[in-house]
Amino acid sequence: HDLGVVAVGFSGGQPKPGVDAAPMALIEAGLIQQLEEDLEMKVSYDGTVHNYSELLPSDDPDYRGMKRPKFASAVTKEVSEQVYNHAKSGKLVLTLGGDHSIAIGTVSGTAKAIRERLGREIAVIWVDAHADINTPETSDSGNIHGMPVAFLAGLAKEDREDVFGWLKDEHRLSTKKLVYIGLRDIDRGEKTILREHGIKAFSMHDVDRHGIGKIMDMALGWIGSDTPIHLSFDIDALDPMYAPSTGTAVRGGLTLREGDFICECVAETGSLIALDLVEVNPSLDEQGASDTVRAGLSIVRCALGDTLL
Ligand code: ARG
Ligand code: MN
Ligand code: MN
Ligand code: MN
Repeated sequence: HDLGVVAVGFSGGQPKPGVDAAPMALIEAGLIQQLEEDLEMKVSYDGTVHNYSELLPSDDPDYRGMKRPKFASAVTKEVSEQVYNHAKSGKLVLTLGGDHSIAIGTVSGTAKAIRERLGREIAVIWVDAHADINTPETSDSGNIHGMPVAFLAGLAKEDREDVFGWLKDEHRLSTKKLVYIGLRDIDRGEKTILREHGIKAFSMHDVDRHGIGKIMDMALGWIGSDTPIHLSFDIDALDPMYAPSTGTAVRGGLTLREGDFICECVAETGSLIALDLVEVNPSLDEQGASDTVRAGLSIVRCALGDTLL
C-alpha cells in the first residue's frame, strides 16, 4: 500500500508544551522504518516535522472564548491541504500529532479528497476518552483540542476566514457518519450535543458491558461496509496505565490490547483511508514516556494491517 505521512508538531490547541515533540519521538522509535520494512508499505514522507512557525500570527487574542484561534486555524488549514494532497492521489494518510485540534485539518482534508475522488462521504471513528465536540460557546476551557468535531460537523461555524471560516461544506462530516469509542469524560454541553444529534457513541461503560468484540461489530455495522473510514485515535483513550504521557489523562480507559484490537478490526475492513495518532506528550511523565510512545507505535502498526499470521 502507498502511505503518505504528515508530521504535525503543533501544541497550540491546548496549554501544555511537549505534544509537538511526539512525531519525532515516534519516528526515532522506528515508526517509518517499521512501516517500510515490516509492513512493506511504500512511504511518502517529506522528512520534516512541521511546526508551522511561518504561520504564527503577530497577535492572536481570544475570540468567542477560543485560545490562539488564528494560529490553530492557519495550521489546520495547512494540514488540511497536506492531507488532501496525499488522499487525492489515492494514498492512505497517516498524520502524527500534535494535539487533537489538528483533526480539523486531517478530517477536512480526507473528506474533501474522497468526495472528489470517489463521490462519497467518509465515516470517522473517533477513539478517545473525550468527545471533543464542544462549540466555542459550550467549552469551559477555551482549548481548541476540545472542539474539532464541532467544527468538522458544522455544529460550530464562523464566518471569519482566519478563524476556521475556511471550512466549507466539502470539508464537513455528517453527524450520522461519526462513531465514538472509549468515552468517559464528557462535558455537560457535549452530552446535550451528542443526544440532540443522535450521535453514535460507545463509552467505557458500553465496552465493559458488551466487550470490545461486540462493540466493534456494532461500530462497523453502524458505518456500513464499503464506507471509507478515517480513524482518529487519541492516545488518552488508553488507560493511563499504558499511556500516561498525555495532557488530559482519564482513568478507567481501554487496555493496550483493546486499543490494538479496535485498530485491527478497522484494518480488516480494508476501508481505512486515514489514521491520526494524537496527544502523545513525551515530556509529561518521564518514566511513562517510552511506554506511551511504544503504545502509539503499536496502535499505528495494528491500524495499518500488522497481524500475527
Ligand atoms: N472536554 C475538555 C475540553 O473541552 C477536554 C478536551 C480534551 N481533548 C483532547 N483532545 N485530549 O477542554
Ligand atoms: Mn482525549
Ligand atoms: Mn471534563
Ligand atoms: Mn481527543
